[in-house]
Amino acid sequence: MRDQFGRSIEYLRISVTDRCNFRCVYCMPAEGLQWLPKEEILSYEEITAVVRQLAPLGLRRLRITGGEPTIRPDIARLIAMLKAVPGIEDIALSTNGAKLPAMARELREAGLDRVNISADSLRPDRIVAIARRDLKFEPVKAFEAALDAGLEPVKVNVVVMRGVNDDEVEDFARLTQALPIHVRFIELMPVGEMAHLTDAHIVPSDELLRRVATIAPLEAASGPAKGNGPAKYYRLQGAAGTVGVITPMTHTYCGDCNRVRLTADGRLRTCLYGDHEVNLREPLRAGLGLEPLFVQALAEKPKEHNLLQLKVGGLKALSQVGG
Ligand code: GTP
Ligand code: 5AD
Ligand code: SF4
Repeated sequence: MRDQFGRSIEYLRISVTDRCNFRCVYCMPAEGLQWLPKEEILSYEEITAVVRQLAPLGLRRLRITGGEPTIRPDIARLIAMLKAVPGIEDIALSTNGAKLPAMARELREAGLDRVNISADSLRPDRIVAIARRDLKFEPVKAFEAALDAGLEPVKVNVVVMRGVNDDEVEDFARLTQALPIHVRFIELMPVGEMAHLTDAHIVPSDELLRRVATIAPLEAASGPAKGNGPAKYYRLQGAAGTVGVITPMTHTYCGDCNRVRLTADGRLRTCLYGDHEVNLREPLRAGLGLEPLFVQALAEKPKEHNLLQLKVGGLKALSQVGG
């Protein structure tokens, strides 16, 4: 399936819940958000029905997101259902990692191919200060659990905030020298709870790469074999893993966009930040075919996000739009 700008759309990010067991400072208020009512959330059968209808149109890769997808009961059951849909080649999951040590094997056995784990600090006190929940979360244990279960390539997402965790960039980069993981530094997006922030809090990726290059020579890398996202990868000479950057604020990558999103309540969003959304839930529940709606949605997919223009606020948190 191609959109109006000729971009091939084969990747669907499926948000299975807007809830989370963390309250990351850059995402949600400490008291949480107004959660979606249960009856508005798509069941696993409904999500699978959407994927089954879109797969013949060229959908091949899926990512399960949230909120935090591992807190939805029996998420392994959904993965097994999606894995059985003809045409689906790759299923990934974006998680904060807290439940991975307990769940990695079960997820792998259900058919999950790989995980992206969010980890913004390696220091216990700071993890609690950023996540505002004390779940005794040890990021490196989550990375190891994913590696041991074969959920590879294992990617790690670090949202870099000046004055909060930017002094840990070198520590994260050094982890890739020993572990075959792919650490991606993400430029903070001033949305949701962070809408009030200014450029002073955003650390441009060029600055990060200059700092990482002081550890050892840094060369451009092709990156982990499976990747559908916008990250650019580099390798510290001799390292087991790679270092990547995701640059929503300083370099736009919309021209290569290959994705659309399904929100937990069944709306198809054709862009992370943009007004365009199509409600699939009502037609699905009414037993109607979704293909014409999908075709129409792609015809209207925006050329690029409006994050930079709307920087002053009012944009939803990533947990509400599916990361
Ligand atoms: P891979 O296939 O593993 O490379 O996945 P990914 O990087 O697409 O997935 P992940 O869930 O780890 O997303 C990481 C970050 O990429 C998100 O937090 C966003 O900051 C950014 N991102 C992902 N998709 C989009 C998008 O469509 N638009 C923009 N602007 N940023 C995105
Ligand atoms: N800016 C940048 N990244 C964010 N994420 C959540 N909110 C923001 C934000 N305001 C990241 C999470 C996760 C990914 C899916 O999105 O940390 O790694
Ligand atoms: Fe694609 Fe929109 Fe994301 Fe840009 S913001 S990369 S156009 S989904």
